[in-house]
Amino acid sequence: MDQQPLNMDHHWLPFTNNKLFHAEPQLFAKASGVRYWTPEGREILDGASGLFCCAAGHGRREIAEAVHAQLLELDYSPHFQRAAPISFELAERLSGILPKGLDRVFFGSSGSEAVDTAMKICLAYHRAKGEAQRTRFVSRAWGYHGVNLGGTSLAGMVGNRREFSSVTCDVVHMRHTWSDEQRFTRGQPDDGAWLADDLEELCKTYGGETIAAVFVEPIAGSIGTIVPPKGYLQRLRAIADKHGILLVFDEVITGFGRTGAAFASQEFGVTPDVLTMAKALTNGAIPMSAVAVKTEIQQAVIDSIKADRPELMHGYTYSAHPVACAAALASLNIYRDDGLFARGQAMSDAFLDAVFSLRNLAQVHDLRGYGMISGIQLTPGKTPGEKGSLVQRLLFKEGLHVKATGDALIFAPALVTTEDEIGAMTDILRKVLGRGELMAA
Ligand SMILES: Cc1ncc(COP(=O)(O)O)c(C=O)c1O
Repeated sequence: MDQQPLNMDHHWLPFTNNKLFHAEPQLFAKASGVRYWTPEGREILDGASGLFCCAAGHGRREIAEAVHAQLLELDYSPHFQRAAPISFELAERLSGILPKGLDRVFFGSSGSEAVDTAMKICLAYHRAKGEAQRTRFVSRAWGYHGVNLGGTSLAGMVGNRREFSSVTCDVVHMRHTWSDEQRFTRGQPDDGAWLADDLEELCKTYGGETIAAVFVEPIAGSIGTIVPPKGYLQRLRAIADKHGILLVFDEVITGFGRTGAAFASQEFGVTPDVLTMAKALTNGAIPMSAVAVKTEIQQAVIDSIKADRPELMHGYTYSAHPVACAAALASLNIYRDDGLFARGQAMSDAFLDAVFSLRNLAQVHDLRGYGMISGIQLTPGKTPGEKGSLVQRLLFKEGLHVKATGDALIFAPALVTTEDEIGAMTDILRKVLGRGELMAA
């Protein structure tokens, strides 16, 4: 039987040049392990764990079976004034791998929801402590915190906020931590901890007592993997403490073994007050996110409300969806039983060796990396972002999927990727990034 041509008119694709996509569709129809296949059956290696979600690789039967069983047992349960046992089980499991002290967990369905939830929790906490004047947030240039209105306000990427400034809230930004002198630094740059003093400066300008929280990604992922300079996160922690400001780590990308430890917070030895996670929480299989907070933060909010009403006027229809909980528990089982965080850590050297072998190619301006995440900055093209988009499409044609942001590629394969597979992915990068003629793009 002849297959009908796919009608692509009706789906408005997110973060996509829809016109270009329609002219040259790049479709995934099937996935297994670290491989995708197009509808025509062409193999595409997955160099981005989907979108940094599928840490354990695609098509994990354990997750599929847990989801199937949960759908038949309890397909949906409301979580306003009701609950399902499985969400408590998941929160307890998470508190076992989270940094010590962060053991109260609020669930959502996306990283963006987690970020906006975290902002509201910070405001509620300060109000509970009699400091309702703390309404301002600090984040960082080049930061990405999702696309809801709170996250858009925190955003430090100009394209993500420029058109929406009329609906953003009060956020002031620190500088990003990248500098030209750091080019081709593998791991954490030695210099740059002093950039955390931007928080101190903002306290001088705005009054530290007006700031509710400072949000950072421990490794700025979406911009193209900017690794924090040694001592930077520690210094942020100290300045935040001095001024009573909550420190929030957005670990939507860095959570679940990407850096070697369960969370980047543990890897870098700095404990935030609030931590957001999503993506690999369910290995990407079912949308889910979470916000973990210190015990005393939840306690303060709960204790502050005496009336019979919810202490936090916030929640989603799909908060702690039982099917997502089942997917998350199955994912955590895989991470534990397969020792996946340790595996990612053990693979990191080979991975970074492969990434840094691309150093002398015509299109490579900078390389950065830590654990199992790396950034490949392309030499600038005529218009910012055009070369990144072109290279991303060329790589797909050659059989590799990576994420491009502007002119940076984010190469972050699943933690289960073998050395041979990393080699095959890097060979495709070498082939495309070595092309001199792209210089004119
Ligand atoms: C650090 C960070 N925060 C938040 C988000 C938003 O997550 P989502 O796309 O699930 O809303 C992302 C997505 O990449 C992210 O990297």
